[in-house]
Amino acid sequence: MERKSTLTSIKNGILTLTINRPEKLNALSQATVLEISEVVDEIYNNDEIKGAIITGSGEKAFVAGADISEFVGFTPAEGKMLGERGQFLFDRIERSPKVIIAAVNGFALGGGCELAMCCHFRVAAENAMFGQPEVNLGIVPGYGGTQRMAQHTGKGMAMELLLTGSMIDAERAKSIGLVNHIVTQEELIPFSETILSRIISKSPMAVAKTIKSINAGYDDGVDGYKEEIKNFSESFDTGDFLEGTSAFLEKRKPDFTKGKSN
Ligand code: COA
Repeated sequence: MERKSTLTSIKNGILTLTINRPEKLNALSQATVLEISEVVDEIYNNDEIKGAIITGSGEKAFVAGADISEFVGFTPAEGKMLGERGQFLFDRIERSPKVIIAAVNGFALGGGCELAMCCHFRVAAENAMFGQPEVNLGIVPGYGGTQRMAQHTGKGMAMELLLTGSMIDAERAKSIGLVNHIVTQEELIPFSETILSRIISKSPMAVAKTIKSINAGYDDGVDGYKEEIKNFSESFDTGDFLEGTSAFLEKRKPDFTKGKSN
């Protein structure tokens, strides 16, 4: 399928996915969601890709939400399908064994804020603005916003943000734990690439199992501590463990590209 609203590039093992509908502030149409799904499949399956950055085209918006024009005349059944598709995709991003960072370069509203929140962490440009303005539209966030905002910022903060629908700037977002770093617009991608490069030089097996263990603590009916022990014990049976510990004892840098990591 020809991709019309997203751009991708791969450099040094890092895939950059740019949501590219700047004239609509990169709003997520259903076609855009499908394109992102294809790219996420590629992140999972292409061995050349070690990690990814998601960002928006232009300097004004990361993603200004789901495409509101597509909601007109929706039935509850259509709304359910839209929410399910969006949640399925964002869950796959959150559970990706390869790290995915959101580089937020402007408005991250509604589905855009939800997209940023399902990434493993967020780096913001100084002009970034976050919010879940659905209450203004007479709807409820449908791509995981009610859950992940509370996970990232705490229940009371999520209540206030989602119930007022107000936007917060990058400084405020950082102060409540929604973003890890604030940099200039020019530095946003290079800075994100630098952090990603550091992560992808580590054991891919350990990175994947760490993501899995942290996520387990947020899964219904799963004991995160038990999942951690399972992943910890499985690590000892991997090439990465052999390489990492040998390198330490031999006082050299580990080379995790040598063998299969699990
Ligand atoms: N869905 C569809 N189109 C959107 C959109 C969205 N979520 N967000 C922005 N756009 C479109 C606008 O309709 C406009 O299109 P037009 O030029 O054809 O009229 C274009 O993007 C530019 O947006 P505009 O509103 O003119 O820019 P602005 O700088 O005045 O305002 C925002 C920026 C982000 C404050 C404003 O666009 C906005 O409130 N967007 C909706 C945010 C939202 O509610 N998102 C949650 C959706 S669930």
